[in-house]
Amino acid sequence: MAGAGDRAFRETCAPFGVDFFCTEMISAKAVHFGDKKTRLLAETGTAEHPIAIQLFGSDPAIMAEAAAKLGKSEKADGIDLNFGCPVPKIVNNGEGSALMKDPERICEIVRSVVEASPLPVSVKIRAGWDENSENAVKVATLCEKAGACRIAVHARYRGDFYRDGTVKLPVIRAVKEAVSIPVIGNGDIRDGESALRMLEETGCDGLMIGRAAVGKPWVFAEIRAALDGAPEPTVHPKEVLREHLRLAFLYKPLTAGREMRMHMAQYLKGFRGAAGLRDQASHASTIEDYLALVDSLPQE
Ligand SMILES: Cc1cc2nc3c(=O)[nH]c(=O)nc-3n(C[C@H](O)[C@H](O)[C@H](O)COP(=O)(O)O)c2cc1C
Repeated sequence: MAGAGDRAFRETCAPFGVDFFCTEMISAKAVHFGDKKTRLLAETGTAEHPIAIQLFGSDPAIMAEAAAKLGKSEKADGIDLNFGCPVPKIVNNGEGSALMKDPERICEIVRSVVEASPLPVSVKIRAGWDENSENAVKVATLCEKAGACRIAVHARYRGDFYRDGTVKLPVIRAVKEAVSIPVIGNGDIRDGESALRMLEETGCDGLMIGRAAVGKPWVFAEIRAALDGAPEPTVHPKEVLREHLRLAFLYKPLTAGREMRMHMAQYLKGFRGAAGLRDQASHASTIEDYLALVDSLPQE
């Protein structure tokens, strides 16, 4: 997840049983122009495997070039192509979910990237651009033909953005019935109950979890335990938070002070009686500020 799913966050999630990781989305154009910040986004560590590097863009040749470059030079296990991002500045460039309006272009991009990439290529799509053009099945079928190894379906239209109650599980079921490659269900999975509903109602092969992990990296372990009928895992949120801070300041010493405020606000939601600390969290900037805040949190 752009702005949240960096290496520090992913490595914080890793001990909780994630089967597959994905980087934040990376602009293929920025890779083409050799942008330095972009290289940081593509950096992966040993604690987060397997991992796919996710690219977005609309030009098949530039996407292929970026996939070839990053697939070779980074410690990655796959390339993932983003056809789901709804953000205006991306969509207005004809990228992300705007491509759901142009399945032939998606097909061309997947084919070019598959040819150029040394790694397996997966895709992430939405249910469609809008309700009048729901085409996830068509797009998924084309992606499979073009050589995609796996398809994740975020079952919302572009205009739904991330709104509650807009996930369309029957779309994922229809995609699952139409293709032979693994289908990953995505949208509003936040606990055992929603995970089970996704699996039962769609028949999907795997679950993708986004927002529910922010401020709660142990959600993966909770969901797995619920699905296995095992007892809830024992978690020590303050320890998880300290580890997240350590990694964030290690990998991004210059920006962690600012970036951890968002994560901190999410973690605080999980601590009873911590509401009063939100204001303090919004002014924290050094690792010492943050650790002092963690120390002052109520006992778990
Ligand atoms: C702030 C934010 C950033 C996101 N960035 C990405 C991204 O870079 N790549 C991607 O595939 N999806 C991205 N997503 C979408 C999520 O991966 C996911 O598809 C969506 O949030 C629905 O799943 P959830 O209900 O589990 O969060 C982002 C979502 C949010 C809210």
